[in-house]
Amino acid sequence: MAKHSSGWVALHKRWLLALLLLLSVSTLIAFFIRSAFDSCDRHPEIVDKWVNSVSGSGSRASPLSFMKSKLVLLVSHELSLSGGPLLLMELAFLLRSVGAEVCWITIQKPPESDEVIYSLDHKMLDRGVQVFSAKGQQALDTALKADLVVLNTAVAGKWLDAVLKENVPRVLPKVLWWIHEMRGHYFKMDYVKHLPLVAGAMIDSHVTAEYWKSRTHERLRIKMPDTHVVHLGNSKELMEVAEDSVAKRVLREHVRESLGVRNEDLLFAIINSVSRGKGQDLFLRSFYESLQLIQEKKLKVPAMHAIIVGSDMTAQTKFESELRNFVMLKKIQDRVHFVNKTLTVAPYLAAIDVLVQNSQARGECFGRITIEAMAFQLPVLGTAAGGTTEIVVNETTGLLHPVGKEGISPLAKNIVKLATHVERRLTMGKRGYERVKEMFLERHMAHRIAAVLKEVLHKSKSS
Ligand SMILES: *[C@@H]1O[C@H](CO)[C@@H](O)[C@H](O)[C@H]1NC(C)=O
Ligand SMILES: *[C@@H]1O[C@H](CO)[C@@H](O)[C@H](O)[C@H]1NC(C)=O
Repeated sequence: MAKHSSGWVALHKRWLLALLLLLSVSTLIAFFIRSAFDSCDRHPEIVDKWVNSVSGSGSRASPLSFMKSKLVLLVSHELSLSGGPLLLMELAFLLRSVGAEVCWITIQKPPESDEVIYSLDHKMLDRGVQVFSAKGQQALDTALKADLVVLNTAVAGKWLDAVLKENVPRVLPKVLWWIHEMRGHYFKMDYVKHLPLVAGAMIDSHVTAEYWKSRTHERLRIKMPDTHVVHLGNSKELMEVAEDSVAKRVLREHVRESLGVRNEDLLFAIINSVSRGKGQDLFLRSFYESLQLIQEKKLKVPAMHAIIVGSDMTAQTKFESELRNFVMLKKIQDRVHFVNKTLTVAPYLAAIDVLVQNSQARGECFGRITIEAMAFQLPVLGTAAGGTTEIVVNETTGLLHPVGKEGISPLAKNIVKLATHVERRLTMGKRGYERVKEMFLERHMAHRIAAVLKEVLHKSKSS
């Protein structure tokens, strides 16, 4: 671990530099768009022209082009680097790129100014998204005027009554509710009582949609509105790195060097915030068991390592201490590496050989890291739960194991399988990549979202 922390700063700088060099074309385009906005702030029509010409024929061909000149209000429960808000931002930029007028409000903002919020706000302003306060006249006026209002996450439901008050019924027919969660505490009347009357709900996976349907019915006795399943897609930026073999090699070498892992060693990683729900504890048990199996059977495999990316000793201290104690107790410190929580997952995806998605209970709502790993041609060892079952094809792009303690030994065996069958492991990775190219790209997501938006616009017009 000492090696890891001392090498980190240098590594960070080096891969950033490498990335900037290698991705100079796309980076330049990004800067171009930004500077166009900087200089044309007060001329939105010029900005639109810039965006259209910079993104080229792509914008003409965009499935979302019917949203041009439409007014869209996006309501985010918070502004942070977590999955929900980032997805909504991606939608904001997709809509901007086809010339929609996009407004953004954030419901919960911390009282003191926050660096992350400041930079996200600016990123949006730079790209022509209008950002304003969640409360007050402007929010209300925009909601009444908008062609479409997107509420992001179940929690955002509280905003309706709090801000729109007696105007709620006028806005509901043009509300699209985007839901990314399925934990019990979201099924509260406080959050979702208006759900039956909105134009539609958009949910990240079929299992999650089913769960919402039965849960709202049984618990709350309310009926879901028209519900659309929209699987997510990988961003263009991620695909660019994933498909750049030079970038990948550079990142792989640097990350491995920083962890003190050799090029020929085998790396199994979980990339999720460290918490019981993500199953890092069970994964470490499986990993230990797989090391024992290999020793018992005297199998010839490269040195194996486990990486836990998502460590945060300031948050989940008790659980993470448990993990670290287990590692000490089993004396596998030189095999297990903890890496702090990070948004930049590409270097790790480039560096590892297998992604483990060990989310427990009902699993992931979708699990974006799974399609990101597949883009990097990595096979996935995943729990047979939640969105994972809709992404990973068992035995083809990865291997599934049961959730809970029952999954420990099957996962251990699957780890050994991928360690001993090199050809199979690589083939699974390639199949995963092909699957991503077929259905999990940004443009696929844009097509799916476009179909939903069309229907919602149509419905709200006729209501
Ligand atoms: C990881 O995070 C902890 C605090 O949670 C911090 O003390 C430590 O320096 C971080 N390590 C690295 C390598 O950034
Ligand atoms: C995955 O495939 C294996 C081998 O066919 C099978 O034993 C296992 O039950 C399958 N798991 C799931 C969740 O389908």
